Amino acid sequence: MNSQHEWWREATIYQIYPKSFNDSAGKGHGDIKGITAKLDYLKQLGVSALWLCPVYSSPQIDNGYDISDYYSIDPAYGTMADFEQLLAECQRRDLRIIMDIVVNHTSTEHPWFKEAIADPTSPKRDFYIWRNGHKDAPPTNWTSKFGGNAWQKDQTSGQYYLHLFAKEQADLNWENPDLREQVCDIMRFWANKGMDGFRLDVINLISKDQSFPNECSEDPQQDGRRFYTDGPRVHEYLHELNQKVFKPFDLMTVGEMSSTTLEQCQLYSAPKREELSMVFNFHHLKVDYPNGNKWQLAECDWLALKTLFTTWQQGLHKRGWNALFWCNHDQPRIVSRFGNDNTHRVISAKMLATGLHLLQGTPFIYQGEEIGMTNPHFDDIAQYRDVETHNIYRQHIEQGKSHKEVMAIIVSRSRDNGRTPMQWDASEYAGFSKGAPWLDVAQNYKHINVEAALNDPNSIFYHYQKLIAIRKQYPIIIEGNYQDLLPLHNKLWCYTRSHQGQRVLVANNVSPEPVNLSLSAKLLDGTWQLLISNYQDSACRPQSMTLRPYESIAWMQ
Ligand code: GLC
Repeated sequence: MNSQHEWWREATIYQIYPKSFNDSAGKGHGDIKGITAKLDYLKQLGVSALWLCPVYSSPQIDNGYDISDYYSIDPAYGTMADFEQLLAECQRRDLRIIMDIVVNHTSTEHPWFKEAIADPTSPKRDFYIWRNGHKDAPPTNWTSKFGGNAWQKDQTSGQYYLHLFAKEQADLNWENPDLREQVCDIMRFWANKGMDGFRLDVINLISKDQSFPNECSEDPQQDGRRFYTDGPRVHEYLHELNQKVFKPFDLMTVGEMSSTTLEQCQLYSAPKREELSMVFNFHHLKVDYPNGNKWQLAECDWLALKTLFTTWQQGLHKRGWNALFWCNHDQPRIVSRFGNDNTHRVISAKMLATGLHLLQGTPFIYQGEEIGMTNPHFDDIAQYRDVETHNIYRQHIEQGKSHKEVMAIIVSRSRDNGRTPMQWDASEYAGFSKGAPWLDVAQNYKHINVEAALNDPNSIFYHYQKLIAIRKQYPIIIEGNYQDLLPLHNKLWCYTRSHQGQRVLVANNVSPEPVNLSLSAKLLDGTWQLLISNYQDSACRPQSMTLRPYESIAWMQ
């Protein structure tokens, strides 16, 4: 197919975290029927597709990222019939569905793993990664992403299995061709139901260095990841999946790439190589991690952030494709993080939205982002549910940090910040459920909610709606190249997009103070029109001026 006609290039995709989206039955956690009930709202926003986080059967140790049966729906979310109805209702509204698929690991409750444990001679044993330890030490010193060593001992056989995430999430052995065939079958099953694509969870971790070397660096950030990130056979495996499933079913695919590089992502998303449609990378969400450490606090480094956007925008231009995002279910809310949820919530949320949505790539909106939902600022560890948060809490306390110190970090870094129930209205539990929710609702739901947003013509919701429409209307947003006009300015994020003699100019003040913007006279020539702004009386054409706190304006020529 001509790449110009690939639907996902001009699409905006909406991510749904089912557990927290909408509960149709008063159980306190969301379900599939709850999603179906809100499709008209998503249609009103204007998105083209939904990315559905995992709804497969799962013991829910990691909220569905630990799958125990790829072929069934977890009863907590409903039935296969509910799912098929969701699909049909989406199709009726011309909304596409992207399934989240987790094939780097399964739950240890998956029948394959149970068989592998029960009978070490079973062919299923080799579906996982087993190694002998060294005396009492595990096979390598790699660390799990959720804390602690990445190997767990099976007491019966005395061998260890690898788990890059929780110990209940055992890594699959992609070296085994039968396992790869099973993965293809799973994907075909869902593709046959009419899915439009897959979001592939931590997909660049599937190929491990088969010599399983020990990490020898003193650097705590060197946790073994270089031996399995973008590993030796990952491109071969993805190409195989592409040929066997993605291409025949014409699926859009977005790979979640953990600690990857631009060079690798150029390969993953190059259309000619036939691997994936696009890639999520996370470098732009580490600019507030000192030395890459998530569990240490720092402010957003805007210079670093802008440099990353330039690198990735230019690096994938005409070579591959970026998935653009500020938020997801693993990240704190962007308005609380790089914006200002205290004094400038609405204006800063709109500024961040404009800055991201006018880049090249496919934007993803995470539920609640379109109404400017904030971190909940929970200060009691008992309010958190996330397995990573609790592991890290325990680990830091054991290492001698005080409860207060650890909580200060968790309040701003926990994944639960992005997982609080969707705020639909001002009624009890924010209209999310009739029962007490699995995770508390943020206290600000009485004024930050969908109903209020829909009733206010100046709300963040309508700003997102406009950005989605702009992307569909103007090919320059899809095709244009990117240039940062003031790369050394740490308060202004100002860039152009250019395409076939046309230009878009975006000026964002990323700070709470007024900042002077001066633009070269040459740039200002010609006829300009205002595309979108976040103050109601913004200048209709670019000029040297003072941008107000978090002011954001885009013009087109
Ligand atoms: C991805 C998911 C995250 C999950 C992890 C392990 O990063 O987004 O939620 O915990 O993979 O599957």
